[in-house]
Amino acid sequence: MIKAAILGFGTVGSGVFEVLNQNKEMISNKLGDEIEVKYVLDLREFEGEPVQKVLVHDIDVILNDPEVSIVCETMGGERPAYDFTKRALEKGKSVCTSNKELVEKHGPELLQIAKAHNCNYQFEASVGGGIPIIRPLATSLSQEDILSITGILNGTTNYILSKMEKEGADFDAVLKKAQEHGYAERNPEADVCGYDACRKISILTSLAYGKNVNFEDIYTEGITEITTQDFAYMKQLSATIKLFGKSMHQDGKYYAMVAPFVVTEENPLYSVSGVFNAILVKGNMVGETMYYGKGAGKLATASAVVADVIDCAKHLGKHIYVKWDDEKLAVSSIENANRRFFVRVSTTDHAQVEKDFGKVTFLDSLFEGECGFVTEAMPEKTFFEKAKAAGNVISRIRMDA
Ligand code: HSE
Repeated sequence: MIKAAILGFGTVGSGVFEVLNQNKEMISNKLGDEIEVKYVLDLREFEGEPVQKVLVHDIDVILNDPEVSIVCETMGGERPAYDFTKRALEKGKSVCTSNKELVEKHGPELLQIAKAHNCNYQFEASVGGGIPIIRPLATSLSQEDILSITGILNGTTNYILSKMEKEGADFDAVLKKAQEHGYAERNPEADVCGYDACRKISILTSLAYGKNVNFEDIYTEGITEITTQDFAYMKQLSATIKLFGKSMHQDGKYYAMVAPFVVTEENPLYSVSGVFNAILVKGNMVGETMYYGKGAGKLATASAVVADVIDCAKHLGKHIYVKWDDEKLAVSSIENANRRFFVRVSTTDHAQVEKDFGKVTFLDSLFEGECGFVTEAMPEKTFFEKAKAAGNVISRIRMDA
């Protein structure tokens, strides 16, 4: 019998409890051993609920119990999750987490501690919720030079963009609806400004290349500037607009960014809509592989945590090596990345537009006093210089290809 503890009985923690209980027999059959939740740590009481039997309020009860070999950290936030995780690992207890903030900030250090104490720090649920992406990157694709990762990593923004496209509704109106339906937080900044996707691409990039990528080094743009007018032009391009977290390994250089992109029908990520997430990973040998599913939600996220619990249970007393050094990955500026841009400017003078931006492909004009077009590929830096000099850009969105 393997004894586990859950830290935090919120949405994900209670989901972990539910998955372990509901699939208990099936998990036992596959593992060849039983997993029992011996403790749940929470400040609340949960009077009359099944969890009450195993509820504790003191972390030391868990940390000082030698029977507990696996701890699920589903508290979220940096403190006290960081201290609890560190102390559990130092006691040789494996920790499985959904806490992307902690993983992004302290991943290399916590992995190092796990290694030193022959246990594991696993974080499948920290990116893409229920989608297996951490394990594929860390193991199934470890033989590959990862050429690129492109992900729809945030369900809230994908939901908002999908609704804007389908209903022709404004960003603010859709955000309000998303908040009413619980698809967006009351303070939506982390999602709509791209910070959540940034943390996730930071984790994926670190794992892909084995060195640490700082959240702050990743160029990040959110979706707050995207309008229904931008979407109106997309039909002519057989395209839509998606918020991508992207990283690339090209000519010995590494790039990472989060921004909205114009995505055409040929891209497999084009049809990923609503709250779903998907990640396209290109390896130099295998080519493109794609991972799709629910990027958030109680049972999907909990399912990924439980997958880690099972993996840890299979490797008790043995550290599974994950290459993620503390050494910083040199992320190159995206200034030199060559790409095309979709642009709207407040003029109808095509000749002037071509003077300002070089040869462009004009789209049918949809709104009075403006025109829309797609530029030729050019370095980002050149484009932004041209845009500044023209002084009439209403919107500009990067083309994915
Ligand atoms: N707000 C996040 C999202 C939750 O929408 O994807 C999952 O990390």
